[in-house]
Amino acid sequence: MDSELLNILSVISISVVGFQVVRKVLPWIYANVVGPKVFGSSVNLAKMGEWAVVTGSTDGIGKAYAKELARRGLKLVLISRSLEKLNAVAKEIGDKYGVEVRVIDVDFTGGAEIYDKIQEKTAGLDIGVLVNNVGISYSHPEYFLDCYKADPQFLRNIVAANIHSVTHMSALFLPGMIAKRKGVIINLSSTAGVIPNPLLSVYSSTKAFVNKFSDDLQTEYKEHGILIQSVQPGFVATNMSKIRKASVFAPSPETYVRSALSTLGIATQTAGYLPHALLQLIIHFTEAVFGDQFARNLVLKNILGTRKRALRRLAKEQ
Ligand SMILES: NC(=O)c1ccc[n+]([C@@H]2O[C@H](COP(=O)([O-])OP(=O)(O)OC[C@H]3O[C@@H](n4cnc5c(N)ncnc54)[C@H](OP(=O)(O)O)[C@@H]3O)[C@@H](O)[C@H]2O)c1
Repeated sequence: MDSELLNILSVISISVVGFQVVRKVLPWIYANVVGPKVFGSSVNLAKMGEWAVVTGSTDGIGKAYAKELARRGLKLVLISRSLEKLNAVAKEIGDKYGVEVRVIDVDFTGGAEIYDKIQEKTAGLDIGVLVNNVGISYSHPEYFLDCYKADPQFLRNIVAANIHSVTHMSALFLPGMIAKRKGVIINLSSTAGVIPNPLLSVYSSTKAFVNKFSDDLQTEYKEHGILIQSVQPGFVATNMSKIRKASVFAPSPETYVRSALSTLGIATQTAGYLPHALLQLIIHFTEAVFGDQFARNLVLKNILGTRKRALRRLAKEQ
């Protein structure tokens, strides 16, 4: 190869790498490190309105969002299934942070009547923040048809709780936010929605929906002063993940939520927590370098292992 051709190839290679750094690497560093950790979120949630609504708020990530919003001075409407648990959490948060807390008991696997009840009970409230957190998942990874055979209703329930709740709650509270030209909607997606996730296919698809819906809704309503964020946690130590002891890669819900809120106004689609962002990055890097199929097989092998252990545990319990 003559030296002129070599020079041209070097310039092209450096330009391609430079272009990728400017287009992808720098925004990633800003969204996951510099923005949240150096500058912090500039969104003042308490200025969005008097009240925040949090779905699935008696445990885990939803309860952690509720506590953090109360700490910032917002009054709360907590929505979950069990009235007893709701009243206990309302008292705990109300006593600790001195804010008014109201509760609404609905089961999000139900039909349209849920939203009539929520509308009626929240009428007249100045709602500035909505956290669409409620979500249900499989008890363990399973093949789609085995899942269906075990409980056909489950497939309907998971779509109702993970998708209909997000669209219907947004439809209920967006008009009030648009009228005052401010408001924040935080939708809980999952890393499962952005990486290959076989054997949890319905769950991960509902979470992919949440990302897409949030992204397009943000474009539609940005100019009305509305901020819509989709957060995509990896494992968080909650009942859903069945992880009891928090660690760096499976933080406590409180640690996760504090981190996710520091990305508000910086990233509209975010893992919300640096170790989870790194996990997504590693999987996407594996896809780019070794191919999509390699990454899918790697995840499949891992999830099959989890399924095997879960089935063994279930067999022992019977
Ligand atoms: N934990 C993780 O590792 C993880 C990872 C990625 C994404 N996420 C997402 O984060 C969100 C919260 O997860 P989490 O781990 O905090 O869950 P969790 O600990 O299981 O808590 C779920 C909350 O939702 C309520 N809930 C469950 N089913 C309901 C229903 N049908 N109707 C009304 N309320 C219901 C529960 O209250 P009651 O029991 O009182 O009904 C509880 O307050 C979900 O959308 C989940 O998909 C979690």
